[in-house]
Amino acid sequence: MIPGHVAIIMDGNGRWAKKKYLPRIFGHRQGVETIKEIVKAANGLGIKILTLYAFSTENWKRPQGEIKSLFSIIGQFIKEELKELNDLGIRLRILGDLSKFSESVRSEIENACAVTSQNAKFELNIALNYGARQELIRAFEMMSEQGIKRPTEEVVSSFLYTCGQPDPDLLIRTSGEFRLSNFLLWQIAYSEIYVTNKLWPDFSRDDLKTAIAAFQKRRRRFGGL
Ligand code: IPE
Ligand code: IPE
Ligand code: MG
Repeated sequence: MIPGHVAIIMDGNGRWAKKKYLPRIFGHRQGVETIKEIVKAANGLGIKILTLYAFSTENWKRPQGEIKSLFSIIGQFIKEELKELNDLGIRLRILGDLSKFSESVRSEIENACAVTSQNAKFELNIALNYGARQELIRAFEMMSEQGIKRPTEEVVSSFLYTCGQPDPDLLIRTSGEFRLSNFLLWQIAYSEIYVTNKLWPDFSRDDLKTAIAAFQKRRRRFGGL
């Protein structure tokens, strides 16, 4: 079975650039090319939801210059790809806190989400200024404001950025690191985890297929027998 929801921690852009004696930003640029390729591949393979980790709440610790370039690259990607995403029937959703972004970038992103909001074939979630703990605190605050004292699992899920979406079946992390880095902690409670040594800019359609093939060999028990 093809996993319905695949989440990816796109890691290794900096190391990719370093290996080529290039500034880190070249790795991020190449990383966006990989995003374009993998979105199309996932759509073609019958995956329904793809969630990509693009910028974490911890990534603010990086040098100002890198953060600025990263945002400009991501903003440009959304602007340039909007028409194609829409033509392919892709709905864009942002997971994360956009309030730290400039007014122009924010309205660009919100426009892209609004324009594609009626698309149902494929959902692309981009986690931007996203942290799973922050997402949970936000959910607790909203529940408290609404007077919800004893939430069920379904209620908690409905206050997350991913509300209405099934949890990821498969979580992929590139560049060989075995950690979650504050990504989707609630939603990946029962996801299958696949780590590859490939650096994100080198991750290809075939690598995605290999990850899916590995997923298909797993026996998911969900605590049962
Ligand atoms: C992933 O690549 C992209 C972001 C975290 C924004 P990195 O920039 O983390 O690359 P490495 O891990 O330093 O190689
Ligand atoms: C995780 O990568 C965040 C994203 C891919 C956006 P990092 O490179 O920030 O993670 P750590 O620092 O290795 O945990
Ligand atoms: Mg990294």
